[in-house]
Amino acid sequence: MKSIASAPAKIILFGEHFVVHGTKAILAAIDKRVTVTSTVTETRTLTGTLKINSQLGTFEIPMYDKEPYKEGISVEGHEWCLSMIKSEFRPFVYLVGKMLDDARSRTSSPLNFQYGGLEITIDSDIPIGVGLGSSSACCIAAAASISGLFKELSSEEILKMSIEAEKTIFPDTSGADCAVCTYGGMIEYPSVEKIGNTFDLNLLIANSMIPHNTKNSVEKVNKFKENNEERFSQLCDLENGLIDKVIVAMKNNDSTAFGLKMSENQKYLEEIQVSNDTLRGMISSLSEISLGSKITGAGDGGCIIALVKDDNMDKVPALLPKDKECFSAKIDTKGVVWKIEK
Ligand code: PMV
Repeated sequence: MKSIASAPAKIILFGEHFVVHGTKAILAAIDKRVTVTSTVTETRTLTGTLKINSQLGTFEIPMYDKEPYKEGISVEGHEWCLSMIKSEFRPFVYLVGKMLDDARSRTSSPLNFQYGGLEITIDSDIPIGVGLGSSSACCIAAAASISGLFKELSSEEILKMSIEAEKTIFPDTSGADCAVCTYGGMIEYPSVEKIGNTFDLNLLIANSMIPHNTKNSVEKVNKFKENNEERFSQLCDLENGLIDKVIVAMKNNDSTAFGLKMSENQKYLEEIQVSNDTLRGMISSLSEISLGSKITGAGDGGCIIALVKDDNMDKVPALLPKDKECFSAKIDTKGVVWKIEK
C-alpha cells in the first residue's frame, strides 16, 4: 500500500518574524510542491526498518528496537533520541513514532500490530533553506502521507501534527508556514480562511542563493527584542496596523498601495537586522520596475519578493546579477492533497 501526499511552498507577504511574537501575517501558498510517498515494505514483522529517501540523502533506523538507545534509534514509545538524528530527518521519525504509538493504542496486543517496515520518499521542487517553506511543506506532506497508512486525519489534525513535527527542528515556529501549506491560497494568519478577493498579483521571487538558517535568524531577532523591548513592541504594533491597511488595499484592488506596504514592511525587517547587502542590492535593482519588494521568510539570505507589473516582467533578468535565480509565482489554492494507492 502506498500513501502519496503533496503540499505547496509558501511566501510570506507581510509579517515574518513579528508573527513569531504574536502579530498577524499574510502568507500565500505557491505553485511549487513537495511530494511524500509512504510505502509499507514488510508486513507483520517486528524487525522492520524505517527508510527515508530524499535529495539530502538516505536514512535508516530500526522501527521496533525494544532496547533504549544503543546504536540504532528506536521509534517505539518515546525512546527515540531525536536530537541524535540529523535535523532534516527528525520530523519524519517523529511523525512515524507518533503514528505507531497511536496505532498501538488502538490495538489490543502489540503483536497484532500490522505494520512492518516503512519507506518514505521525498521528491521536491521547492528550493531548500531559502525562505519558501520547504521544511513546513515537507512536514505537512509527510503528516498526510504517513497518516494515510494508519488512520486518515482531517486537515486540522494534519496541521497540528506537522507543527509538532516542525518543532523537532525549529521549536519556536509560529505555525504560520504550516497553516498556509495545509489550506493553500492566501491567508491572514492566525486565520486560515482564504482571502477571497485577491487581485492578480504578479509576484516575482528572486533567490539570493545564500542559504539561511531560520532558527539562527529567529534567535537573532529574539536578542534584538531583548535589547530593544519598547521599539520591538512598537514595530509589532506597526506590523499589525500595516496588515490592516494591506487588507483594505486588496479589497480596493489597489496594487500600488499593496506594493508600497511591502516596501514599508522591508524597513521593519531592516530595523530588526535580518537583511544584508546582497538582499538590499537585489531590492534596489528591482525598484525601477516594481511596485514594492521585500524579503520573504527569515531573511539573512534566501529570497526576496517583488510586485512587478506584467509588462515589466521581461526586464527582470537584466536587472539582477547573473548568479541569482528568479521566477514568477502563481498562488496555489489546493493546499495539501493526498491519495492512497493499493
Ligand atoms: O524562512 P522560512 O521559510 O523558514 O520562514 C520563517 C518565517 C519566520 O517568521 C521567521 C518564522 C516563523 O516561524 O514564522
